[in-house]
Amino acid sequence: MEKFVVHGGSSLSGNVNISGSKNASLPILAATLLTREQCVIRRVPDVSDTNYMLQILHNLGAEVERASGNVIIKCERIRGHEAPYDLVRKMRASVCVMGPLLARHNRADVSLPGGCVIGDRPIDLHLRGLEGLGAEVTVEGGNVHLEARYGLNGDTLDMAGKNGATVLGTDNVMMAAVLAKGTTVINGAACEPEVVDLANFLIAMGAKISGAGTPRIEIEGVSELGGVEHTVIPDRIEAGTFLVAGAMAAPEGITLRRVNPEHLSSVTEVLEQCGCEIQQSEKSMTIQQAKNPVGANITTEPYPGFPTDMQAQMCALFATTPGLSVVKDTIFPQRFMHASEMKRMGANIEVSDGTAVINGVEQLSAAPVMASDLRASAALLLAGLTAKGATEISRVYHIDRGYEHIDDKLIGLGAEIERLPA
Ligand code: EPZ
Repeated sequence: MEKFVVHGGSSLSGNVNISGSKNASLPILAATLLTREQCVIRRVPDVSDTNYMLQILHNLGAEVERASGNVIIKCERIRGHEAPYDLVRKMRASVCVMGPLLARHNRADVSLPGGCVIGDRPIDLHLRGLEGLGAEVTVEGGNVHLEARYGLNGDTLDMAGKNGATVLGTDNVMMAAVLAKGTTVINGAACEPEVVDLANFLIAMGAKISGAGTPRIEIEGVSELGGVEHTVIPDRIEAGTFLVAGAMAAPEGITLRRVNPEHLSSVTEVLEQCGCEIQQSEKSMTIQQAKNPVGANITTEPYPGFPTDMQAQMCALFATTPGLSVVKDTIFPQRFMHASEMKRMGANIEVSDGTAVINGVEQLSAAPVMASDLRASAALLLAGLTAKGATEISRVYHIDRGYEHIDDKLIGLGAEIERLPA
C-alpha cells in the first residue's frame, strides 16, 4: 500500500492535460463484447478500474493489447458469460457486462455488486430493464443469472428510479437492445456525456440509436455489429477536480488542456458564483483563484445538474471559503466520508440527512487522513494543497482507481506531493 504526503502552501500555475474519461471507457470496453471484430479505443486512462474491466474481458476470452492509452481488443471467441465475484467486488461498474453478454450469448452470470462507502448500490433498475427485453432474472448466492432463451425483444421501458436516472443501467439496457429484435424505447434514460459517448461508439459499430443525451432513447435492433476505432471523451470529473485545485491554490491561474468545457457547465457556473475567473476555448479552460471568494449552495442532480462526483471536491474548497456553504447530495446521500476526515484537519462541517453545512475556516491543518472512495480521496488531496504542514493520506489505491497519475499532474503544476510506501 502507498500513501501521499502533501506539503501544503505551494501556489499552482501552468498547464495540465486532462485524460480520457474513466466513466466513458468502462461501458465502451464492455461494448466490444457485441462484435467479433477488432476494436481500437483511444485515450483509455491508465487507472485500475479500466485494468479490472480488461481483466474481466480477458477472462471471458477477449484478446487485449494495450499501448500508451490505446486499447486494441477483439472479442472473437468469447467463452462463458460470467463476471466473477473477485473482480466485481473490486469494481461495481463490472455490472455493465450484463447487457452485452445477454445480447451476445442470451446469458449472463454476474456477481451482485456489494455496497460501497458512498452508499447502497442496487441494480434493480438494470434488471427491470433487461427483464423488459425478455431476460429471465434469478438471484442466487449473491449472483445474478440472466437468460433470454428465445433471444431479446425490443419494448418500451421506464428506467427512472427514485433517485433519478441510472447511468450504467441506461448503458446496460442500450447495449442489450442494439441486437434485440424490434425497437426499444428507453424512457427516463440518463443524459450523461458518458452515455452519449457509448451511444456514439455503438452507432459507429452499426447500431441504430437516436435520442442519446435526452431522457428518451430509441434503439432499432440490428442483426450484427462491426469493429470500430473510437477516441473516448475527456474526463469531465478529473477536469472538475483540477478546476477546484485552481480555485483553491492558483492565484495566477492554471490551464486545463484536452477538456470539453460544455461537459462542465454546472461546475463552471458554481465556481464563477464563488468568485473564480474562468476563461474557456473549445478544448481548454483557464481558472484563476477568486480574489474575494464566497461560498455557495449546491444540490447534486443527474446531468446536466451539478454532478455527485464533484461534491466532495467542492467541500474541500468550501472548507476554507469564508462564510456558509451548503452541499446536498440527492444521488448518494451517504457520500460524505470526506467530511469526517476534513474535520480531523480542522474543517467546520456538519453533515445530516445527506446535507453538509460548511463554515469556512482560515486554514486547515495537516493531519493523517484516510482515503475511502475515489472522489473523497481526491478531495483530501485538494485539502492538503492549502493545509498548514504535511498531510498524510493513506490508502491512495482509492485515488489510483480513477485518476491517471494525479500526483504527477499536480506536481507538474507546482504542488509538493510525495508518494511513499505506507
Ligand atoms: C455512475 O455510477 C458513475 N460510475 C458514478 O461515478 C456516478 O457517481 C453515478 O453514475 C451517478 O452519476 C460509472 O459511470 C462507472 P447510477 P452508476 O446507477 O451508474 C440509484 C465515480 O466516482 N440506482 O447512475 O452505478 C443509485 O443508488 C463513480 O466515478 C438504483 O436505485 O450510478 C443512485 O442513487 C462513483 N437502482 C442513483 O440511482 C439501480 O438499479 C444513480 O446511480 C441503479 C441505480
